[in-house]
Amino acid sequence: MTFFGRGIAMKNARLILDKDYVISEIDKRVYGSFIEHLGRAVYTGIYEPGHPTADQLGFREDVAALVRKLNVPIVRYPGGNFVSGFNWEDSVGPVKDRPRRLDLAWKTTETNEVGLHEFVEWAKKANTDVMYAVNLGTRGVDAARNVVEYANHKGGTYWSDLRVKNGAKDPFDIKLWCLGNEMDGPWQMGSKTAYEYGRIANEAAKVMKWVDDSIELVACGSSSTTMPTFGEWEYTMLTECYSNVDYVSLHRYYGNPHNDTRDFLASTMDLDDFIKTVASICDAVKGKKHAKKRINLSLDEWNVWYHSNEQDKEINKREPWGTALPLLEDIYNFEDALLVGLMLITILRNADRVKIGCLAQLVNVIAPIMTRPGGGAWAQTIFYPMMDASTFGRGKSLLPQITSEKSDTKHYSDVPMVDAAAVLGEDGSVTIFAVNRDLENDVALDCDLRSFGTLKPAFHTVLHHDDMKAVNTEANPDVVKPVQVPVAKEGEPIVLPAASWNVIRLTK
Ligand code: AHR
Repeated sequence: MTFFGRGIAMKNARLILDKDYVISEIDKRVYGSFIEHLGRAVYTGIYEPGHPTADQLGFREDVAALVRKLNVPIVRYPGGNFVSGFNWEDSVGPVKDRPRRLDLAWKTTETNEVGLHEFVEWAKKANTDVMYAVNLGTRGVDAARNVVEYANHKGGTYWSDLRVKNGAKDPFDIKLWCLGNEMDGPWQMGSKTAYEYGRIANEAAKVMKWVDDSIELVACGSSSTTMPTFGEWEYTMLTECYSNVDYVSLHRYYGNPHNDTRDFLASTMDLDDFIKTVASICDAVKGKKHAKKRINLSLDEWNVWYHSNEQDKEINKREPWGTALPLLEDIYNFEDALLVGLMLITILRNADRVKIGCLAQLVNVIAPIMTRPGGGAWAQTIFYPMMDASTFGRGKSLLPQITSEKSDTKHYSDVPMVDAAAVLGEDGSVTIFAVNRDLENDVALDCDLRSFGTLKPAFHTVLHHDDMKAVNTEANPDVVKPVQVPVAKEGEPIVLPAASWNVIRLTK
């Protein structure tokens, strides 16, 4: 151990990258997100007519600007638990004629003021695509095929002509669709057994693709690894729908309710195991069916979620059926940003199987972006690793060989001190995303990029705060924010400060 600049102990780690050791091309959709009709995600989140920045449709420009900065290529919509009781037909046509409905998922009233057409318009403004979920809870095959016809068929039929009449001459051309949401969960309207779900998913998938064979479909995996049916669910439902679906969904949220930061930061060991387990089950069904097609994974809900649990219990004591209530409003601190960075690293290292990822969610509801009605919009701590990864993490995911100290935490063994992913860009640049999990010691990372020839460090940014619980607020939005640090000199290791998320870009 040596002593270094900041006067604290410096540890060592090593990273080897080789341009021929590629995990996979990264599907840009891994940097997706999620907007549900829940709490203030839509109403007073992305949409607030009368807000000083609202456009003609009522969408907040300040929020859209932050979404564009986050660089989100696809947004899952409209739920979530909400979708299992949702009639898509309620959300189209003249707004004044749209019904107000009870949303039993979140015990609120859905006004349907924002619907399919409006969301497609917002997506254009936010420079993103739509991933649309159909209701396989209280609805079924017929509603699923009709909404594909409404959205994607060019015209000359009942549903496509209705879209034209409702103001959209061109099809929305939505390419990615979810076959329901968390259908294994008893909290879901119309929840199902794995066999029941597999059957309805298969029949819905079949006819949706008959309407438009260019679409891709995500079948519901388990809502969490903690479900007693996890594993069996994936195997049974996939046995029923394998040939008609393209992806299986995974949902995973972590929390630090016992304030054990080391254990919390090790949670990605679980995420990695989860991803590999579901991929194995997909392959087991592939083998059983003698199939050629491989099913890939859609991690279409992931994040930290626990801060708002107590507050939500209070809110839920309220009179039900309000609108735009502050539900699931987690205020994220610095350690949450580190975990989000570690989750992104885990996604990139599984880029051969994880093709879609949705940080859940995008605005106000367990979100990187917060708003105040009538007031400002600001970036929470978790915004930054997501922005960095989406901006610089396009290209091929390289296989990183990392040698670093390992330690045990309450729930995990052999947790590496340094975790990293590396991306080879089309321009020949290499971007390293690295987290130093050690809370006290800086790490000198010795990088061996043997086959790349001469690459020069272009920049190194660090996200760090001495207080693991530091947060960003509307009044102080820049408390936790990446800063640029001097790049390492030739032949010298890269310093990863204690408890930090790092982006190191090397160019020719
Ligand atoms: O993202 C919040 C909720 O978490 C979603 O509605 C549901 O799918 C999951 O349980």
